[in-house]
Amino acid sequence: MRKHLELTQVGIEFPTPKGPFVALQDVNLNIEKGEFISLIGHSGCGKSTVLNIVAGLYQATTGGAILEGKEVNEPGPERAVVFQNHSLLPWLTAYQNVELAVKQTCKHMNRQEKHEWILHNLELVHMSHAKDKLPGEISGGMKQRVGIARALSMEPQVLLMDEPFGALDALTRAHLQDSLMEIHAELGNTVIMITHDVDEAVLLSDRIVMMTNGPAATIGEVLDISLERPRNRIALADDKQYNHYRHEVLSFLYEKQRKVEPVASKKSQQKPVEKPDAA
Ligand SMILES: Nc1ncnc2c1ncn2[C@@H]1O[C@H](COP(=O)(O)OP(=O)(O)OP(=O)(O)O)[C@@H](O)[C@H]1O
Ligand SMILES: [Mg+2]
Repeated sequence: MRKHLELTQVGIEFPTPKGPFVALQDVNLNIEKGEFISLIGHSGCGKSTVLNIVAGLYQATTGGAILEGKEVNEPGPERAVVFQNHSLLPWLTAYQNVELAVKQTCKHMNRQEKHEWILHNLELVHMSHAKDKLPGEISGGMKQRVGIARALSMEPQVLLMDEPFGALDALTRAHLQDSLMEIHAELGNTVIMITHDVDEAVLLSDRIVMMTNGPAATIGEVLDISLERPRNRIALADDKQYNHYRHEVLSFLYEKQRKVEPVASKKSQQKPVEKPDAA
């Protein structure tokens, strides 16, 4: 069987004033069609960089990503991206923001079909009621919903999400996680989602990919989450297996990959030492 999405020996070097910086090295991962993958790891380890390589926004220095047998080297509608801070055009309504993507990717549809498709995607994220509102007139969670509708309207094979719910309050976040689980069950897209939230990762994922700290970050461990679907957050709260998975991820992050970083106040105390010239 042909592989769906393969990352092989992915590495990337960024040029910096101090010389090349190796952000990622030897990242290898095979993802099956319809799988829900979470990427987790400390800040700055390279999660967004991995996602941007799959999106075709960054070019790997070594290795690369192959989707359905085709090498990824530029962005494409079959790989839609949802960013942490919605990226809606503020002068367009929710409907028009989705329409923009539909016009570009659904050229085979006539006007009426496009209209129905836009409404259908807004319905999927429960935003039909606010379709004529501008981004400035709706809440952060609603904007994020429109961003997801826009991505889904492109019927992507792969949905790439970079901390999609990071800026939201806990309740809105829980609602959107539930919506995302429903949409994923219905559409069966492959999803790669970056998160810092251990519960979110365990609740939503089929596999959690845990990254080591950079430089030259790579995949440290991959955890299979074999909890039955549909999943219910309340029922899982005291599920033994669920808590075992949580523990595994926490232990990876805070024991095995503990980030040793001076706290802000220490940093400022160290400043004079870092600048000997100033003395
Ligand atoms: N364009 C770039 N030029 C130079 N360095 C970069 C560039 N993009 C990313 N980096 C560096 O690569 C490393 C990984 O960055 P990345 O944004 O992928 O981290 P992340 O895991 O997404 O972090 P966070 O959780 O804070 O979003 C960081 O050290 C970052 O400074
Ligand atoms: Mg990031």
